This record gives sequence, C-alpha cells and structure tokens, in this order.
Amino acid sequence: MFMPEFKRFLITSALPYANGPIHIGHLAGVYVPADIYVRYLRMNDKDVLFIGGSDEHGVPITIKAMREGVSPQKIVDRYHELIKKSFEEFGISFDIYSRTSHKIHHETASAFFRKMYDNGQFIEKVSSQYYDEATGHFLADRYITGTCPHCGYENAYGDQCEKCGTSLNATDLINPKSVLSGNSPVLKETRHWFLPLDQYEDWLRKWILEGHKDDWKSNVYGQCKSWIDQGLQPRAVTRDLDWGVKVPVEGADGKVLYVWFDAPIGYISATRELTPDWEKYWKDPETKLVHFIGKDNIVFHCIIFPCMLKAEGTYILPDNVPANEFLNLENEKISTSRNWAVWLNEYLEDFPGKQDVLRYVLTANAPETKDNDFTWKDFQAKNNNELVAIFGNFINRTLVLTQKFFDGKVPACGDFLPVDLETMETMKGFPEKISASLEQYRFREALGEMMNLARLGNKYLTDSEPWKIFKDQPDRVGTILYISLMICAELSILSAPFLPFTAEKIRKMLNLPLLKWKDASHPDWLKSGDEIHNSGLLFEKVEDSQIEAQINKLMETKKINEKAAAKGIPLKPEITFDDFSGMDIRSGTILEAEKLPKTKKLLKLKIDTGIDVRTVVSGIAEFFEPADIIGKKVSVLVNLAPRTLKGIESKGMILMAENADGKLFFVSPETGAENGSTIK
Ligand code: MF3
Ligand code: ZN
Repeated sequence: MFMPEFKRFLITSALPYANGPIHIGHLAGVYVPADIYVRYLRMNDKDVLFIGGSDEHGVPITIKAMREGVSPQKIVDRYHELIKKSFEEFGISFDIYSRTSHKIHHETASAFFRKMYDNGQFIEKVSSQYYDEATGHFLADRYITGTCPHCGYENAYGDQCEKCGTSLNATDLINPKSVLSGNSPVLKETRHWFLPLDQYEDWLRKWILEGHKDDWKSNVYGQCKSWIDQGLQPRAVTRDLDWGVKVPVEGADGKVLYVWFDAPIGYISATRELTPDWEKYWKDPETKLVHFIGKDNIVFHCIIFPCMLKAEGTYILPDNVPANEFLNLENEKISTSRNWAVWLNEYLEDFPGKQDVLRYVLTANAPETKDNDFTWKDFQAKNNNELVAIFGNFINRTLVLTQKFFDGKVPACGDFLPVDLETMETMKGFPEKISASLEQYRFREALGEMMNLARLGNKYLTDSEPWKIFKDQPDRVGTILYISLMICAELSILSAPFLPFTAEKIRKMLNLPLLKWKDASHPDWLKSGDEIHNSGLLFEKVEDSQIEAQINKLMETKKINEKAAAKGIPLKPEITFDDFSGMDIRSGTILEAEKLPKTKKLLKLKIDTGIDVRTVVSGIAEFFEPADIIGKKVSVLVNLAPRTLKGIESKGMILMAENADGKLFFVSPETGAENGSTIK
C-alpha cells in the first residue's frame, strides 16, 4: 500500500555487546521498534530480512573477562545464548540472530578491510598512543577514561563520551586514566591504519545534510550535522589487542580491527549466513536499508559505516537510521555495571507470560524524541488502565456477550443504524492512519491509534447497550455484536506488530485465518454462524504488592551500590615511610567552636594541641553543632602550612573519616592520650 519505490527491505538492529543480559532500555530503544516495523512489513507481504546478532569483540568483552578471570570466549558464549533466548521470548522476530565470532564474519570483515587496503583507502601511520606500563597494554577505547574535552564529563571513554555522544580519540581525553590499573598512562609509538573521514566530508554533507534533511529524525540529523560541522578527523580502525578480527596485512601481528569497524560488517556477514541471495539485499539500490539503533550508536551508523560502505564501493547506504534516545529507570540512567536495570530474564520470572505488557509499556513510553523514564508505577497504570480496562475489556465484553446471547456463534447482521455506519466508517480509517505513523517510525503514535480503535469499540458497546435491549430486540443485538466482533478482528490484525502474542490469542478465539494488513479494512471474513470461543482474559491487573516488590528490589540494588562505592574509592599512589613521617599529627582538644558567618560549611575552632592553643578553620559545619563538639578529642595535623580562609588564618587541620555519602566522623584519640601526644 505504501512505500512503492522499494522492492525489498533490509532491517538491522544494533548488535548488542555479549557482555551482559538484555534490559528494558535495549528493548525500548532498538528491538521493539525494529520488530514492530518488520512485522508490519511482513503483514504487507513485503520482501524483508530482519538481521540481528551479538557483538562479541571489543573492550567491553575483554574487560568483563578480565574482571571474572575467564577467557573472552567464555563470556561471549554465556551471554550470546542468554541474549538470544530473551529475544525469542519477547517475540523479536529476527530472520537470523548471528554472532561476530563466527568464521563467516571473520572472513567477511577481513575481506572488507583488505579490499579497502588494496585500494589505498587507509592512511598508515605511526602515532603515539596511551600505554599502561604497569600492565603492558595499549589503552584503546574503553580501557581508558578521562574528561571529555567537549562537555567536561569525567568518565568519557577513549573512543566516545557517553554523555554528549561525541566520538573521541583516546588522546583527546583530559586527565586520562587506565581502567586496568588506575594509573596515568604514558605515550608509546605504534603503527595503525586510519580511515580518513575528513576526505568524506563533502560527500557526507551532500548525502546527509542535503539529502536527508526531511526524512531523518531531527535528533539523528542534528547529531550528524554537529559532527560534520565540527570537522571530521582521520580515525584509527585497528587496535593493539588480541581479541577481535586479525588485521589481514603483513606485519600486523598483535593487531585486530577496531570493534566498530568489524561489528557493522556483522550485518553483512549475518545476511550471507542466512541466504545465498544476500547480495541483492545489500547491493541493489531497490533495497531499503534501515538501521535501528540507540543514540550512542549514531556516529557509527550515520558517518563511519556509511563511509566504509561508500569506500568499498559495491554496497547500498542506509535509507534511514531511526535512532532513539535513552530510557531511564526510575529517573536514573540505566547501567549494566551498577545493575540499575530491569533485566528481561528477571522480568519474565516475575511476570511470566506478560511479554506483551512490557512491549506495550515500552512502546507507549518509547524515547523517540527525548530521553524518557520507565517507572514501575507507570507500568502498573498502563497495564491496569489501558490494557486491562480498554483493550482487554472490550474484547472480553464482546466475547462474553456473544457467548451469552448467541451461544458463541457470530450472529447475523441486520440493517444498519446511523451509529453503525458511522462506527464502520471510523473503523476503516485505522489501518491507513497506523500505517502512516509506522512508516515514519512513529511507533508511540501508531500504538496510540491502535488503542483508539479499542476505545471506539468500547464506546460503541457502551452507547448501544446490547445487554439492555436483548429481550425486545434480539436482531438489533445481533447487529451490534457482529460489528463489535469485526472490531475485535480488526484489532487482532492491527495490534499484531505491537502485541504479537495477544493478537494471536484473539485470532484463535475468533477462529480467523492468518490475515494481512490489508484485510483490516475489508473485514468480510467473519461469517455469521462461525464459532468463536472465549479462552479467558487477555490481560490481568498488576497488584500494588507486585509493584512494591519491584521497587524494593531496586532499593536493594541502590544499597549494594552505595556499599560498593564506599569500598571502591580509588587508592592513592604508594608513598614512602618518610613521606608519612613528615606529617606531625597530635592529639588535641576542641576548646571553642563557632560558625563562620555567611558560610555553610565552615567552623572556626580553637584547639589545645598540647604545644599551643591555635585556630583551625574546618569544613565540618554541615555535620556538627558547635555546642556539641566542645571538649571533643581530635587528631590535628599541626605542621600544615597556614592558610587564610574567609579572612581567618587557619593553622593545621583536624582529621576526619568520610564515608561514601560524604558524611564526616571524628578520628579521635582515646581518652587518656594527653594533648600533644604524637600520632604515628
Ligand atoms: N555493540 C554496540 C553497542 O551495544 C552496537 C554495535 S552495532 C553494530 O553499543 F553495528 F556495530 F553492529
Ligand atoms: Zn562529552
């Protein structure tokens, strides 16, 4: 019906790193929208391939392996299976879910690199890269963190700042630190191959900034524009690592392809693995290629991978890259390492069989144009007030009434009243409206329209009150239920991309054949006399206690994280005994304390140090009342150079213990240690 200009569709979804399970953020941002789109295309008889797989190379994997003390292969084997299973359980209908450790991928990625190499499309350069002398590693990508030069975020990675999305080179970082040892790295020379992105700037300007101004989402277009306008730099596409696709060039021992070079080629490898016909999907301009990704992947899919495809020369380019923003969880950024997430495997343990509920909530809340928040309260509200009260209720009412008045058979349809004609007219408009939204990647809007059809059904039933008039007008009730059943059937078609499990249940209850999208506007396949059967409620209420349990689980995570943070304060570099014994620390007693006016944190203390009585200005006012600390025994660093704070000379410093929350405690000598006793 739409999209006449393309013969076939190649839909890819970002290959998740196989270093952890999948969470709701992945599902909402990438896989559910991709799956909705693909299911819709299939229902329109389009020739479509849906490609997925695990990204099994790169530093996220080797870091995880190092932390667990196992091989990277062990990590990817474990998580590939887990991730694949989660996708199956949630009905993400890939035509193939492959992995980048497969031989066919190594061959494909190698050949791709080799062709560009032979064509002279790389710059070979010896440059200085950060190196961790303690561990003997070059520090690429996520092995190094530091402050982002663009936005000031302190935990930017060596290849990208996750805060502002800018793609970085490790040498751009301010104050770089090795993730392996925590040390400051040194620079060391090494040879690498660079993709000269700067040479593609004019072409990118034409292709994206002029060519896709109107059809790419504004968040995607905006990011591309800002990178291109900042000026693109050559980018290394090889790394000194031993996990990945070997660089297929003489003298490149110990080097592998950069993970962001090999991973997107994984889409191609997976297609090759799937079908001998793969080239027509990748090389015929009549194929529409769409990449579904999250916003942190934009630069790689809109700039770097297209430059690679263009350089290679025989491939098509993406027609669109409908990247989503991020989904937060209870107002905080989802984080695998901090376990701040709803993991799909755990969700299904707690809500068995409720895949469609999560698909629904995540679509209704999809971070399509801005970051969005998932909260358990909202999950409950959407389930109870929308799926149960609107969608489920309408289907159930129709089936129960049909059972009651017509013995579970589709009734005969009599003459239409104006309200029937009007309702049927409105019904007819839904498939096109939903199509229009889906084809523009507006999945929330499409879902909203689908729900409006259920609302229409409810209103129609409520207004025509068949339960009241059956006695006097059974034929009229027959017509009302016939039309209501048509709405149920239309819902089973139009909800199928979003709620595939539910749609299938309705289809079985109505005894319908597998129907196509176009059948939704010609629902003449319901015949009076056909048997239907109600096999129970489609959705059930989520109770407060279930939501409390989920929130408690998150609170537990928070506590564990706080404890871990307290333990995880990084160690300072080693010092000698002399460094320590240079400090003259004495036992003392606080004689006077007063708050310094116009400051929040400062107290002016008078302290008897045993050698003198001196003034110390101390930043503890947020935690202690002056009156409470008079007479307190304290440890004082007495040979600290004097400093002037708010016009008062402070001589020395009192020692405090600080916990992970920043709360302060005195480090007090026991009573009996006279003032002036040395602490060593
Ligand atoms: N593994 C990457 C991530 O999770 C995505 C890779 S997408 C691909 O952010 F194109 F490279 F495959
Ligand atoms: Zn940044």
